Amino acid sequence: MKKMAKLCLVVAAALMLAVPQVSMAKELSGDLEIFSWWAGDEGPALQALIKQYKAKNPNVKVIDATVTGGSGVNAKAVLKTRMLGNEPPDSFQVHAGQELIGTWVKADRMEDLTFLFKDQGWMDAFPEGLVKLIGTDKGIWSVPVNIHRSNVMWYIPANLKKWGVEAPKTWDDFLKIAPKLQKEGIVPLALAQNWTANHLWESVALASMGPDNWDALWAGKLRFDSPEVVKAWELFGKILQYTNTDAPSLSWQQATDMVIDGRAAFNIMGDWAAGYMVTTKKMAPGTDFGWAASPDSDGEFMFLADSFGLPKGAPNRDNAIAWLEILGSKEGSDAFNPLKGSISARKDSDLSKYNAYLQSAAKDFSKDRVVGSLAHGVAANETFMGGFSQVMEMFLKTKNANAVAKACQQLADKAQIGK
Ligand code: GAL
Repeated sequence: MKKMAKLCLVVAAALMLAVPQVSMAKELSGDLEIFSWWAGDEGPALQALIKQYKAKNPNVKVIDATVTGGSGVNAKAVLKTRMLGNEPPDSFQVHAGQELIGTWVKADRMEDLTFLFKDQGWMDAFPEGLVKLIGTDKGIWSVPVNIHRSNVMWYIPANLKKWGVEAPKTWDDFLKIAPKLQKEGIVPLALAQNWTANHLWESVALASMGPDNWDALWAGKLRFDSPEVVKAWELFGKILQYTNTDAPSLSWQQATDMVIDGRAAFNIMGDWAAGYMVTTKKMAPGTDFGWAASPDSDGEFMFLADSFGLPKGAPNRDNAIAWLEILGSKEGSDAFNPLKGSISARKDSDLSKYNAYLQSAAKDFSKDRVVGSLAHGVAANETFMGGFSQVMEMFLKTKNANAVAKACQQLADKAQIGK
């Protein structure tokens, strides 16, 4: 009898082992609210992730809560109200770097995701530098979905040929060809609403002061009212003369359209513009549109990374964790990024799925000097960013480089930049 009982136990144990892992996983149900600014033209890449999530979790109702507006200008304001009102979404878009760490982690609003990184084998899947950017000595606070490049100049090769100009390698070159283009009724550089001026500024500042000074600025080792920074504002002022006057009323897509339609020659925008031209406009990289590092920044890669976190008090925590698992996976990443115009944040992405622009971006990322974007959350917290938009408004009106440089230093003190 004893023997029989033993045998039964062995058989039962063997049967348990034979049960496929998946049937042991909890079947998820209920809602999942994902909060981001990827609406409209920015939506297809996010939809590819949602599709994968729904295939794995058919009983979860996904609420795709988007607040439209490039670089999250509107979404971030709504998110702030919700977070402060203790009504967090289940997961929200946030840039890796200070936007996450200096804002939401500092306010103790995020859950530590170290357990997920360990479970999923992500400690080695993402570059060490990126994990540092989303982490502190107390934990890892979000899951990165991509790497975008900020300092890119876009153009249409056929138009440049027609106008007899080449993509400028330096801002001096740009300032030489710009008056000629303007005389012919072509806007030399397309610009859109306020945040795109911040975006242009960071490329100009990087070009003007160089990557060491750029890094020193955010480490609190170079003052914002130093001659290097004043010089960057002065150059920025010269460049602004060659932008369109209706910029404040345009979205970044409309500024990109100006280049596509031949109303403007160039545009400095992050490579979500490549996503827009390929995914929405069905244009071919290299032939229908061209690109170059923004003037005087060849060999430098100003990067940013979108990520999603798990706020404390997320109403559907398990569903959110399952969402984050998709975001960090190789399959999720390689479905999302080719549509988004970004490269994978993972080290093992399948580059054959990526177009010519993205392959060139991946190559540059592996060899260039990498610095962090201000306009997209890497370099500074939300306190600085909010104030910087006002400083930018002041500059757009006054063009007073010394005054804005001083205002920036006051802001940096308030936001404790480099502390
Ligand atoms: C950035 C974001 C990109 C893209 C862009 C335009 O801040 O990181 O993914 O959405 O804004 O909205």
